[in-house]
Amino acid sequence: MAEVGIDIERAAAFLRKGQLVAIPTETVYGLAGNALDVKAVSSIFQTKNRPSFDPLILHVASLEQVSLFVSEFPEKLKQLAEAFWPGPLTLLLPRKSIVPDLVTSGLDRVAVRVPNHPLTLELLAQLDFPLAAPSANPFGYISPTQAAHVAAQLGAQIPFILDGGACAVGLESTIVGMEGEQVIIYRLGGLELSKIESLVGTLTVQAYSTSNPSAPGQLASHYAPRKPFILGNLAELVPQLFQQGKKVGVLSFCTHFPAIPADCQVVLSASQDLTEAAQHLFMAMRLLDESEAELIVAEFVPETGLGRAINDRLKRAATQPIH
Ligand code: TXA
Ligand code: MG
Repeated sequence: MAEVGIDIERAAAFLRKGQLVAIPTETVYGLAGNALDVKAVSSIFQTKNRPSFDPLILHVASLEQVSLFVSEFPEKLKQLAEAFWPGPLTLLLPRKSIVPDLVTSGLDRVAVRVPNHPLTLELLAQLDFPLAAPSANPFGYISPTQAAHVAAQLGAQIPFILDGGACAVGLESTIVGMEGEQVIIYRLGGLELSKIESLVGTLTVQAYSTSNPSAPGQLASHYAPRKPFILGNLAELVPQLFQQGKKVGVLSFCTHFPAIPADCQVVLSASQDLTEAAQHLFMAMRLLDESEAELIVAEFVPETGLGRAINDRLKRAATQPIH
């Protein structure tokens, strides 16, 4: 079983040996390995049971390090990096050949980010290689936002989990790249679109596509709980299912349902704060997936600010994906 702790030296020692370590970031926990060591990278895919056509993000200590791995840094994207790194922003940039094919699934661009967590920044600063790290969950399941989530699912397969507490943002990074002069959003995430737009102007959002060759990992059935997960109007659904005698788990934005047992419902933010809702989302899905409930019902949050990314994750979690 993985050791869980805050010893950065120990995490670094495992990584230098080519082993995998779960690392905290501000978005979700990552399953990290030496990105320049093909064996370590391939064990990331194996451990997650992830198909090799779904590329990994390169995590680096600072903006300065990016030039080691990318051949070109368009001005608009550099502006974003300067403004938002360390932070929940991943940039797709033309890669240098030092980046193994396996990291990018053979694509010409590599995804790079500087994560914003003090333990992981310190760890990266101590290493002389970047870390490839997908979210530390089995492929297709909900991303982990606490060390305990990682321990429960991957604890038997890795030696060490660096415990950085609960993730402050709670949603994966926003993925951004360019096609010609146009800035494209490939995945909605923890950095709001309005913040990006205020720097680089109009964006094109290509996120949540089932057939997007630029972001092959953007499969519709991502982040899904194991139980049936139904999106709709809770004020109608909850009483209906309750009357049918169903054990229903409720994931609501701000409403508490008195008839539902406390351990079968989660309110994302009683004060309707989308930042708080994002922090709680994945933990809530896990909790309800592990509860007594036989199915989970959830509702959309307002489609503003981080609400867009939250709704994207809810759609992906839904049993009948909504396109
Ligand atoms: O917040 C995050 O981004 C977290 C933390 C750990 O940094 N990582 C994360 O990794 O969410 P992962 O592997 O679960 O999701 C990365 C996504 C995948 O959907 C993948 O397809 C896309 O990034 N991606 C990675 N490299 C790419 C590339 N070269 N071109 C297009 N898409 C890429
Ligand atoms: Mg993931």
